[in-house]
Amino acid sequence: MPRTLVVGANRGIGFELAKQLREVRGHQVIATCRGPSAELAALDVEVIENVDVTRDEAVAHLDAALGDRKLSGLWVVAGILARTPLDALDWDAIRAQMEVNAFGALRVVATLHRRIVDEGRLALLTSRMGSLADNGSGGFYGYRMSKAALNAAGVSLARDLAPRRIAVGLFHPGFVRTAMTGGNGNLDPDESARMLLDRYEDLDMETSGRFFHANGEEIPW
Ligand SMILES: NC(=O)c1ccc[n+]([C@@H]2O[C@H](COP(=O)([O-])OP(=O)(O)OC[C@H]3O[C@@H](n4cnc5c(N)ncnc54)[C@H](OP(=O)(O)O)[C@@H]3O)[C@@H](O)[C@H]2O)c1
Repeated sequence: MPRTLVVGANRGIGFELAKQLREVRGHQVIATCRGPSAELAALDVEVIENVDVTRDEAVAHLDAALGDRKLSGLWVVAGILARTPLDALDWDAIRAQMEVNAFGALRVVATLHRRIVDEGRLALLTSRMGSLADNGSGGFYGYRMSKAALNAAGVSLARDLAPRRIAVGLFHPGFVRTAMTGGNGNLDPDESARMLLDRYEDLDMETSGRFFHANGEEIPW
């Protein structure tokens, strides 16, 4: 049975990924959160708490809690979004988005990549808002910059992990009704998670390091 770790699984898309990996795709799932949620506690998955991706010691605690276990796959889902218009830039919010969305994701992978088995998978939840080519509406400085930085890291990870034939997916989940979007969107988290898991299963060395919408369309950088 594949063993898959989902980082940022207490709610939203991460929760649905953990649930469907366990209940539909038949994985053994280890799910992390900062603080637990009732819905995550009710799943038949192992939960590791106090994993704030911005903190070295929290990610070291996750590494220690995994013991000697290897992973078939790793999903890094944790993310934050803040609105930071040009005339009201909030530098703390911009830094926070970089810390979580870009540096936090890289911290998790840097700490755990040796646990991913050869020919395993790594999935990063990015956003089409990190695409330069697709930016037709501006704004969202911190969020767009942080997801573009995550995309850059994801391509380097694809190159660095290629010798072990670990495939790296950079996935946009669609516009999904979660707390992040204030409940706006055109997909529910369960629909997004189902499509994301299809993309995940399609990952191979040919699609590694490329940027895909959950619906299967490739997104320009
Ligand atoms: N919803 C969309 O339309 C959409 C579109 C494009 C991309 N995305 C991306 O998809 C991912 C999931 O988003 P979502 O819509 O499911 O949002 P969400 O419901 O707000 O969930 C965000 C998750 O990230 C966790 N998180 C935030 N800061 C963290 C930190 N410092 N350390 C560890 N975990 C942290 C949250 O945990 P807490 O409960 O502890 O805060 C929560 O589990 C994000 O990376 C987001 O950027 C979403």
